[in-house]
Amino acid sequence: MNVLLTGGAGYIGSHTAVELLQAGHDVVVVDSLVNSSEEAVRRVERITGRTVAFHRADCTDPAALRRIFDVHDVDAVIHLAGLKAVGESVAQPLRYYRNNLDALLNLAEAMDEHDVRNLVFSSSATVYGDPEHLPLTEDSTLSVTNPYGATKLFIERVLEDLAAADPRWHIVSLRYFNPIGAHPSGLIGEDPLGVPNNLFPYIAQVAAGRRERLTVFGDDYDTPDGTGVRDYLHVVDLAQGHLAAVDHLGDTAGCRVYNLGTGRGTSVMEGLRAFERATGAPVPYEVADRRPGDVAVCYSDPSAAARDLGWKAALTVDDACRDAWNWQSANPGGFGGAGS
Ligand code: NAD
Ligand code: WQD
Repeated sequence: MNVLLTGGAGYIGSHTAVELLQAGHDVVVVDSLVNSSEEAVRRVERITGRTVAFHRADCTDPAALRRIFDVHDVDAVIHLAGLKAVGESVAQPLRYYRNNLDALLNLAEAMDEHDVRNLVFSSSATVYGDPEHLPLTEDSTLSVTNPYGATKLFIERVLEDLAAADPRWHIVSLRYFNPIGAHPSGLIGEDPLGVPNNLFPYIAQVAAGRRERLTVFGDDYDTPDGTGVRDYLHVVDLAQGHLAAVDHLGDTAGCRVYNLGTGRGTSVMEGLRAFERATGAPVPYEVADRRPGDVAVCYSDPSAAARDLGWKAALTVDDACRDAWNWQSANPGGFGGAGS
């Protein structure tokens, strides 16, 4: 298949491109590079020995999208393009609504015009808000706690309406839990701009000496060691989940939703210890107050994806720490640095 990846130069998109290419699919990447580097696409080509058609374009530009569909015979689209920082979305709601919603609406219109109606969408466990019951199944209560989460929930709704209105659409929304780690080659990985918001990129920068110590946001949660618990999944497992979704798009018409997670929870302190095992050195930390908006525990029931897509996470948090450290050590400045 010829698969178009919006946001394909980003963290999850670049890993997804590798898995698609290695499975024999062709890949077209559309990315504005607002949060990524074209170097990631070149590295994908190095890992796979395959060529990627790259278009620097913004999905909020309908004419640009149309031109891309005019020149490529696309079979399916994976829509990963979006702004994703929760705190930034609270500070800049209009930018988030404009970017994430316009991108999806323009993309769906361009697809429809070009008779391409196979779509996989990057949703997020953030649509569950503060979990009422654990583990989270796809029919758990949905809620919105910030503008970023609102864009994901609203897009899921748009996609349901689209599939209900026209049975030619085949749509899968994937609700990712917490992706971590990097490709085992050390050539691609997460390259956050500025101070990392997320736990593992922050720990990696402390381990690399770029930051003094990790701040653990709260050790008084109702969890075994008092720190927050999440369902961390290796980004290569997540990328393979996209491959499985693309391969199963034709199974049924309509709009389906799947959790992609491991089904296991790991606490902040367990994550920190896993990283220490990967590097062989202690990671300094201090405990501070809870981060506003954080929930105590969040993990998935991933059994629907296993049943329908034949997908299961195979790698561990230790594997992810090893690969993240390999990436961080080989590329101390990310894609913009000296690199490998
Ligand atoms: P990322 O920022 O590395 O990748 C997103 C890519 O989209 C970037 O390369 C960015 O340049 C591009 N982009 C943004 N707006 C665009 C636009 N209008 N037009 C074209 N390109 C645009 O982030 P990621 O972690 O790889 O996330 C990919 C997707 O997965 C996002 O939609 C994100 O919301 C979702 N997601 C991420 C996580 C996570 O923890 N990383 C969790 C759940 C869901
Ligand atoms: C994990 C745990 C923190 C940083 C976020 C988004 C979510 C999704 C994934 C896209 C929590 C603790 C963190 C630090 C810490 N993104 N922590 N010190 O909050 O589960 O999810 O990213 O859809 O929408 O909200 O992930 O990595 O930020 O935090 O103690 O410096 O680590 O309190 O318990 P989170 P995270």
